[in-house]
Amino acid sequence: MDTIVINGGNKLHGKVRISGAKNAAVAILPAALMSTGKISLSNLPDINDVRTLIAILENLGVGIRRRGRNAVELKPARLRGYSPPYELVKKMRASYYLMGSLLARFGRAEVPIPGGCDLGPRPIDQHLKGFAALGVDIEIEHGLIKLKVANKMRGAHIYLDVVSVGATINLMLAAAAAEGRTVLENAAKEPEIVDVANFLNAMGASIKGAGTDVIRIDGVSQFGSAEHIVIPDRIEAGTFMMAAAATGGEVVVEEVIPKHLEAVTAKLREMGAAVAVEPERIWVKRTGKLLPSDLKTFPYPGFPTDLQPLSMALLTAAEGTSIITENVFDGRFRHVDELKRMGAQIKVEGRTAVVEGGLPLSAAPVTATDLRAGAALVVAGLMAEGETVVSEAEHIDRGYEQFEEKLRGLGASIKRVRSRSGIMVRKPY
Ligand code: EPZ
Repeated sequence: MDTIVINGGNKLHGKVRISGAKNAAVAILPAALMSTGKISLSNLPDINDVRTLIAILENLGVGIRRRGRNAVELKPARLRGYSPPYELVKKMRASYYLMGSLLARFGRAEVPIPGGCDLGPRPIDQHLKGFAALGVDIEIEHGLIKLKVANKMRGAHIYLDVVSVGATINLMLAAAAAEGRTVLENAAKEPEIVDVANFLNAMGASIKGAGTDVIRIDGVSQFGSAEHIVIPDRIEAGTFMMAAAATGGEVVVEEVIPKHLEAVTAKLREMGAAVAVEPERIWVKRTGKLLPSDLKTFPYPGFPTDLQPLSMALLTAAEGTSIITENVFDGRFRHVDELKRMGAQIKVEGRTAVVEGGLPLSAAPVTATDLRAGAALVVAGLMAEGETVVSEAEHIDRGYEQFEEKLRGLGASIKRVRSRSGIMVRKPY
């Protein structure tokens, strides 16, 4: 596994262009296989999850033409199968979107049960409950989820017990091809859901209300060609905004949608950072001391759970006691032990972490447990004097395009060390 080596203490300065949203792209690529026309996608982030999904689509017979680093043309007409290969699917959880899109295309899907993740249990009961409501028969055996509908899915009125991004999108994909109207109640409202709905409508779907908690989907019988530009990644943008505050620097994140970052902007201002918002960019500057903060994660438009690890790293620099409550996932605190190895004073009780900030972090070897925890450890390394080595950096590559390059462009002293057969190859900065 690769490692990322950081020589901390530099303040980040400059501008960084934000890539396309991972959590929109990993749903839009599976959705593309519902089309029998030609699909052109741009502003795709060049990350491992996108590469894995493109490989899965190719394996299923979709014609693929890469148009540079961030764009692709797809021809799904020749799609031949509905059983994506396990060795690719196991690499990413979001492959569960293949259930909804293959059901829409074929009325059948056989998808390996999605792998676990280091955020605690990741059930898909709401996805399956919704598919059953649409008339899908579901069998789970030998690690496979086998979904089949006798003739066509029928629209249904589905009330989600849990506000779930994945279930909302997956059911939108399937219902788009069901007969009649489907209403999703208690739907999640994330911007990525709106982006997927816009893409589906561009292919000919009839979806209204995405972005609210009630989504109405009138099924259609076929999906045609479409062009789509993926929205910017609000989590990547928030990561760089928090890194700017954490290092005491001044950074402009460009090509963002500020509306998607309102909770993050508000929280950074509350912590004492200066934040200025323009139509497509946000400027962040740490002016003086950081202030402690009580932070609670919630589904959108609340503070995003994906930035909880980053906010924890940041709050170690705020003098005083901060309380972080993780309301979305059980056990999304795997990064706490790693931050404590760097001297952070953090106590976890159930869903709450109490951070005693103000003491400087000390550089140390640490391990990334998931992509956002990995990003948080890199930011902690930027804050700490000395050399921090973050191992298992592949986690970060799943969701951040050119992470070290973008940080180096902002003045960070950071290198990736590729471990060849386990031998650490160390290069000078
Ligand atoms: C999406 O995961 C994102 N992933 C996650 O981002 C993000 O943290 C999460 O939404 C919350 O915003 C993608 O979009 C690919 P959920 P998802 O279903 O859809 C429970 C990242 O770092 N739940 O909204 O899997 C679940 O356990 C990743 O980019 C059920 O109980 O999240 C959790 O507690 C990490 N049953 C809560 O709902 C279900 O059937 C929210 O999960 C589904 C979910």
